[in-house]
Amino acid sequence: MKLRINGQDHELDVAPGMPLLWVLRDKLRLTGTKYGCGIAQCGACTVQIDGQARRSCVTPAEAVEGSDIRTIEGLEGAAAEAVQAAWLALDVPQCGYCQSGQIMSAVALLEQQDSPSDQEIEGAMAGNLCRCNCYVRIRQAVRDAAQAKGEA
Ligand code: FES
Ligand code: FES
Repeated sequence: MKLRINGQDHELDVAPGMPLLWVLRDKLRLTGTKYGCGIAQCGACTVQIDGQARRSCVTPAEAVEGSDIRTIEGLEGAAAEAVQAAWLALDVPQCGYCQSGQIMSAVALLEQQDSPSDQEIEGAMAGNLCRCNCYVRIRQAVRDAAQAKGEA
């Protein structure tokens, strides 16, 4: 199987049905993408597939052959920079476990929409749970990043 991840092609020997998350973490050691629930309920495993936030724990690797796969290790561009800056400025993370997934969802949103409404932010981020309950800072950081990107 050939997967394009963070701009690089990888030839991989992958068992049929293996979730993308396992390929990323166990075969490629891209451990920034986290395993939380394994059943598409927490968002810790969020990556971008052709620019869309997707749950890698329930995405079979063979389903994304030929797609552009992006993980937290490969984030770049104006939206990613704005999100990283806002996250740092607000000191968003607590334990950090959910944060890779939160950031992947936030960047996907801001790459598609320049000034999302609070409702649109809520809709885009609702599938990313945070057991440390950092939701107020996360939502504010997305708003700040959208504003900063708009002003850049
Ligand atoms: S690990 Fe994929 S959504 Fe929880
Ligand atoms: S910062 Fe701990 S789970 Fe979100």
